[in-house]
Amino acid sequence: MTLRMALIGCGRISPKHVEAVIENSELLKLVAVCDLIPEKAEKTAEKIYSTLGYKPKIYKDYKELLKTSDIDFVSIATPSGSHYQITMDCLQSNRHVLVEKPMALSTSHMSEMIKLSRDKNLRLGVCFQNRFNPPIQELRKKIENGALGKIFYGTISVRWNRNKDYYEQAPWRGTWDQDGGVLMNQSIHGIDLLQWMLGGKPKRVFGMIKNLNHPYIESEDLGIGVVEFESGAVGIIEGTSNVYDKNLEEVLSIFGEKGTVKIGGVAVNRILVWRFPNENDHPYMNLPDPDTVYGKGHVALYKDFCRAVTKGEEPYINGEEAQKAVQIILGIYRSAIENKWVDLPMDFSTEQMKRWSF
Ligand SMILES: NC(=O)c1ccc[n+]([C@@H]2O[C@H](COP(=O)([O-])OP(=O)(O)OC[C@H]3O[C@@H](n4cnc5c(N)ncnc54)[C@H](O)[C@@H]3O)[C@@H](O)[C@H]2O)c1
Repeated sequence: MTLRMALIGCGRISPKHVEAVIENSELLKLVAVCDLIPEKAEKTAEKIYSTLGYKPKIYKDYKELLKTSDIDFVSIATPSGSHYQITMDCLQSNRHVLVEKPMALSTSHMSEMIKLSRDKNLRLGVCFQNRFNPPIQELRKKIENGALGKIFYGTISVRWNRNKDYYEQAPWRGTWDQDGGVLMNQSIHGIDLLQWMLGGKPKRVFGMIKNLNHPYIESEDLGIGVVEFESGAVGIIEGTSNVYDKNLEEVLSIFGEKGTVKIGGVAVNRILVWRFPNENDHPYMNLPDPDTVYGKGHVALYKDFCRAVTKGEEPYINGEEAQKAVQIILGIYRSAIENKWVDLPMDFSTEQMKRWSF
């Protein structure tokens, strides 16, 4: 069965969605593309035509797109602040949804999205594509086999550079109502990986945020968090967009009683340390850095989402899973405002950060 999909939002991340469509062409067909700026939709449609030989229909208004009858699922790659409304509209029109990260910027919005997808028996998947990175999958297998024994703690360090050019490309970036800062935008993948490896049950969080070198944005360019999990394990989060003068690394370290693993490279794409009893290296220690920090994971993510839609099964990363990283980040924001530990889950949104000033 070939699924028919639409892509809403043809900006910076859209080539990764197009790549996934091309690489999974036996599973799906991109029948419609939509962007407020028609030239961007046209460019995306042209890429599909030149590669796959058919041309998706072009829309400016996604509500018009949803009136057509031949779309099984919709991928949403618009600014983060619009994910909630567009997802709800797609679900209301009975389409499965694959939405970019973060799935939404408010805990109540995430709950509504999950509830509606459940009520309508539709799949809701979220683009945490780094979960499919080969080194991350290797670590995951070890954790699922219990090879690390008791896991004590883990750290995620996202040390990247985002300069004025990046923020000037799109005015929504760095705003509280449409984006958030380096934690919500850039570090969210790593925070998702950390919470996943540490058992997926964050209990409470303490955080600090600063804006040290980006006076032209509302949100943070340095975020620090400590998360305690139900298991007793502790996660330490460090995310910054201030690294001179280009992206340095994204490093995930997990420390267990019988294993130590450190995965790094520019975006958790290479094993740096792999230590278990009688095992001290791994073939993935030599993997190259990807062309961009977005990696290649959208290809595997789409394949998985097609499986979920076709078979009526759960996507590898569903709404319930994907909301946890957003909860942790909102917890750090709230903790920074209130200067105290924040118990999770709780209700909060980036909107509520508007009263914060650095
Ligand atoms: N998974 C990843 O690694 C990754 C990487 C980058 C961005 N993202 C996420 O993808 C989303 C988009 O980011 P981007 O950097 O591509 O942004 P962008 O600003 O480059 O592109 C967004 C596009 O959406 C269009 N758009 C806005 N509102 C629309 C609407 N109502 N209907 C149709 N089109 C609309 C804009 O015209 C623009 O072309 C964000 O949520 C971001 O967090 C994910």
